Amino acid sequence: MTDTILSVRNLCTEFTVESGTVRVLDGVSFDVPKGKTLGIVGESGCGKSVTAASIMRLLPQPHGKIVSGEILYDGKNLATLSKEDMYKVRGDKISMIFQEPMTALNPVHTVGRQICEVYELHRPDYDKDKRKQKAIRMLEKVGIPEPAKRFDEYPHQLSGGMRQRVMIAIALACEPDILIADEPTTALDVTIQAQILDLMKKLQDDNGMSIIFITHDLGVVAEMCDEVVVMYAGRAAEQADVFKLFENPSHPYTHGLLSSIPKLDSQPRTQLPTIPGSVPSLLNMPSGCRFQNRCDFATDQCQQTPEQTLIASDHKVFCWQWQTLNQKRAEA
Ligand SMILES: Nc1ncnc2c1ncn2[C@@H]1O[C@H](COP(=O)(O)OP(=O)(O)OP(=O)(O)O)[C@@H](O)[C@H]1O
Ligand SMILES: [Mg+2]
Repeated sequence: MTDTILSVRNLCTEFTVESGTVRVLDGVSFDVPKGKTLGIVGESGCGKSVTAASIMRLLPQPHGKIVSGEILYDGKNLATLSKEDMYKVRGDKISMIFQEPMTALNPVHTVGRQICEVYELHRPDYDKDKRKQKAIRMLEKVGIPEPAKRFDEYPHQLSGGMRQRVMIAIALACEPDILIADEPTTALDVTIQAQILDLMKKLQDDNGMSIIFITHDLGVVAEMCDEVVVMYAGRAAEQADVFKLFENPSHPYTHGLLSSIPKLDSQPRTQLPTIPGSVPSLLNMPSGCRFQNRCDFATDQCQQTPEQTLIASDHKVFCWQWQTLNQKRAEA
């Protein structure tokens, strides 16, 4: 695999809820490649956003807590970094954009002020003029027409696509090493979505940052990502180069996910395969592999938590039965 900029190792995150404690992430491990895009995919509730919030140390307080594991970045473990040191990382070295910009932007401040605030925090040597000049330059970079005029406007004066561009401008103001994008285009219509994805790719080409791209949409994964981690019920199931993952999915869950995408040559109205069964409840997880109740290949060994197997240098899987699956596929 290529150089790694951030490594998540055995990350466990818990929430305190009325009925007790739920372990939402249970030993998540993956690597973010330097200068490339890592997609995180998986069904709703599998822990994608909680993974992002754990990396950013933005878990809801006081209910959410990283209980063990490591988030290794630049020689530091972000999981245990002090609040003060984390302030320095967040927004400067690692930034995030969200699905709904209206909730992330402050409605009572102009967009210009919101970008300038990032510089006030992370670039205290910039004076007021320099902050403004840099902010206008950022608005221009993300493709906002008449950036000097837009600087003085409020979020509600902008369209959804333009607001998402402002959020990207804020996130990239300090040229971070890593941008985390949690479903950044789901709320936008298809044309605007394509424009935002193109913009993100272009900005990545310009400054060489890594992107963690969280999405439900496997089409967007194919378009945007160099590598993919597939999550299932609070754990990573498989991580691979995007082509390898689509060609040779080696976790039965990934295989199921990919089989449910319609193919261009499939007969119209043929039923899509779905994965039978449902994700076990967080309050009642089986021991061992969490996919076993839905898996055609499960054996007694699956009572134990699957270890990571390196199938190739750019392909790892957390499944005891990956060889059986690959054999079945080769025979089919
Ligand atoms: N504040 C919270 N308190 C308790 N449980 C939570 C909290 N936030 C998330 N969870 C639980 O953690 C699990 C993972 O949630 P998460 O939001 O990470 O899922 P996701 O993969 O991002 O899903 P989606 O695709 O729907 O955005 C879910 O079961 C959710 O109910
Ligand atoms: Mg989410």
